[in-house]
Amino acid sequence: MLKIKNLKFTHPDQKSPFDFSLTCKPGTITAITGPSGIGKSTLLDLIAGFLVPTSGRIHLNDIDLIPYPPELRPVSILFQADNLFDHLSVKNNLALGLEAKTPDPTKKIVDALAQVGLPDFIGRGAKNLSGGQQQRVALARALLRNQPVVLLDEPFANLDGKTAQHMRKLVKTLTVKNNWHTLLVSHLPEDGNGYADTLYQLD
Ligand SMILES: Nc1ncnc2c1ncn2[C@@H]1O[C@H](COP(=O)(O)OP(=O)(O)O)[C@@H](O)[C@H]1O
Ligand SMILES: [Mg+2]
Repeated sequence: MLKIKNLKFTHPDQKSPFDFSLTCKPGTITAITGPSGIGKSTLLDLIAGFLVPTSGRIHLNDIDLIPYPPELRPVSILFQADNLFDHLSVKNNLALGLEAKTPDPTKKIVDALAQVGLPDFIGRGAKNLSGGQQQRVALARALLRNQPVVLLDEPFANLDGKTAQHMRKLVKTLTVKNNWHTLLVSHLPEDGNGYADTLYQLD
């Protein structure tokens, strides 16, 4: 269980602090919706460790994550776009999700690509992919990292309706299969109602 309790943060020039509380069970998607500028990305940055809260708690299975720097947090992140290095191949983008000493990395990469529906993409250049294909490769990298907390910041906002629907299904399947605590922030109502297991509306 991921538990966030009274996590407070104030940006420069902000009048009253953000104060976030939520819980997310393993194997479920928790959506956080709300208009632009309400603090959705700030919340994910706090969980990822890019921002440091003034007070409050982030506990994963009763372990306090706040003392850990971003690179040691058990977290994978997927943004709206620009998740891949354009100048690298799909294979090398995915290799970044693996630890250096991983045995048989190519097999693991091929397997992750198959799981996101891109079985023959290992030799492609990242810059030649469509937006939807790039998001799927980024999701494959989250699979390879295999961290228990997956943070998705407007992951479907740049995709056409059909591709977005495909990605929603994929995220749900992978969340259940891998027991991820998936936090999805979005301004799109369709990412909340009828899709997420739990829905928080920021106001
Ligand atoms: N680095 C920053 N410095 C100052 N203010 C910021 C910074 N980042 C975000 N903000 C402000 O904090 C608020 C929340 O931003 P953000 O978390 O990005 O919202 P959302 O993701 O919901 O659109 C906005 O008013 C934004 O202008
Ligand atoms: Mg945002």
